[in-house]
Amino acid sequence: MISSLFENNLRWAAGRARMDPEYFRRLAGQQSPEYLWIGCSDSRVPANEIVGLDPGELFVHRNVANLTPPQDANFLSVLQFAVEILEVRHIIVCGHYGCGGVRAAVDGRRHGLIDHWLQPIACLCRRDAAELDGILDFEARVNLVCERNVLAQVESLADNPFVRDAWGRGQPLSIHGWIYSIQDGLLRDLETTRQGPAGARAATLKAQRGRPRRRRPE
Ligand code: CO
Repeated sequence: MISSLFENNLRWAAGRARMDPEYFRRLAGQQSPEYLWIGCSDSRVPANEIVGLDPGELFVHRNVANLTPPQDANFLSVLQFAVEILEVRHIIVCGHYGCGGVRAAVDGRRHGLIDHWLQPIACLCRRDAAELDGILDFEARVNLVCERNVLAQVESLADNPFVRDAWGRGQPLSIHGWIYSIQDGLLRDLETTRQGPAGARAATLKAQRGRPRRRRPE
């Protein structure tokens, strides 16, 4: 029943206020989350809940198959606000195994409008076709693409002008790629964390080597 949602809300608000009388007053004042979460819309992957964070601690963007499309005004508005105004320290792209969006991109059938949204994943499948074709189990293939999709979104974010400008200003900002398993509720780090533009370290070293040495004072 839809009315039970309001009853749930009353209970939740009362419980919060009982634990911490200043809770809502403090939240109303401002939000200062350290994290931007980019996750799938899937109802089984509730962002705050699986990482144990309270309201105010996680800035959240969710869409089908946790994409970071560089032409999506909704996503870009969230990203700019998170990076430039909230100055989050971490962006987490969190995929999940068994993702229905990824599955729709992998199965090669037509589903309608969503095929356009999922086109970046379909491109990924074509790029890795030789390897994917070798995986006979369909779910295993989907799960590998779930991981590859997270990696691709991390790379895309690392190329995003808002992110690159933040790094250019010396703003500390890390991008993480994680994957969640609905089967056991556990998160896994795909160890693809980016803390600066690709080749930044090499470029800095080269610049340092090329710089003329300052003479020691006699
Ligand atoms: Co999903």
